[in-house]
Amino acid sequence: MKERLVLVTGANKGIGFGVAKHLGLSGWKVVIGARNEERADQAISELTSLGIDVQGWVNIELADLKNLEQAVEVIKEKYPRLSLLVNNAGIPGDMSVDGEHTEMDVVKETVNVNYIGTFALTKMLIPILEKNDGRIVNVTVPSEVSSYWHPLAYVASKAAQNAMMGVLAMEFQQAGKSLEIFSVHPGPTTTDLNGNMKLPGFHDIETVGQKMTELINDGQNHQGEFIELYPIVKED
Ligand SMILES: NC(=O)c1ccc[n+]([C@@H]2O[C@H](COP(=O)([O-])OP(=O)(O)OC[C@H]3O[C@@H](n4cnc5c(N)ncnc54)[C@H](OP(=O)(O)O)[C@@H]3O)[C@@H](O)[C@H]2O)c1
Repeated sequence: MKERLVLVTGANKGIGFGVAKHLGLSGWKVVIGARNEERADQAISELTSLGIDVQGWVNIELADLKNLEQAVEVIKEKYPRLSLLVNNAGIPGDMSVDGEHTEMDVVKETVNVNYIGTFALTKMLIPILEKNDGRIVNVTVPSEVSSYWHPLAYVASKAAQNAMMGVLAMEFQQAGKSLEIFSVHPGPTTTDLNGNMKLPGFHDIETVGQKMTELINDGQNHQGEFIELYPIVKED
């Protein structure tokens, strides 16, 4: 029988923590992806105190391909029945400048983490996930450029991640693989990523974690879909 075992990257805080928590409360066994033992342990003790079955944590630093190779070795050995990867970890880049003034270092770092690191981890975990009839869920933003919210480094890195999802979904389908990939836009969510903004239209990590869990558990095939939980709203 398929085991409900999920790895959530960036699960020590923010949306990743909310998703790990609500998937865990709905019966999923949880592996925490984090890049710091202390932060991982803090999340684990909070989750286990709620009765969630946390199987452990894996050190995942998306900016470091060597680290990702080691992480995948650990996953192969300790969690060979992994059936869900939630690609949640990500960085905002610089949201305070316009496109023209975005520093190249920021563009490189943001693309490196949000797209290249996410793709590398996904690519290396595909064999395990396929064996387990698994799924990959990406936490992202729309590729279309919004007229009132358009931080270049961030939206470009996420557009690349969205393209990755589209290509892989099509190829999985064409090859008849028992593997599914789709993307979810949680909508504006109050987290460290945006300085814990609480403007109208923002939601908290509990609401988003719960809604994403309902989506993941809905029994439907979402291959290739881009699903918006909440839209980006105009800041008045
Ligand atoms: N908040 C929003 O409004 C919003 C809206 C749409 C989409 N999203 C997406 O949701 C995801 C989670 O964001 P969030 O708002 O929850 O942000 P957050 O609270 O800042 O959490 C980000 C998580 O990613 C981890 N992370 C950062 N850089 C990493 C790296 N190089 N390698 C591995 N892990 C790394 C962080 O770990 P550390 O604690 O070690 O830094 C943290 O666990 C992101 O992909 C973001 O783009 C957010």
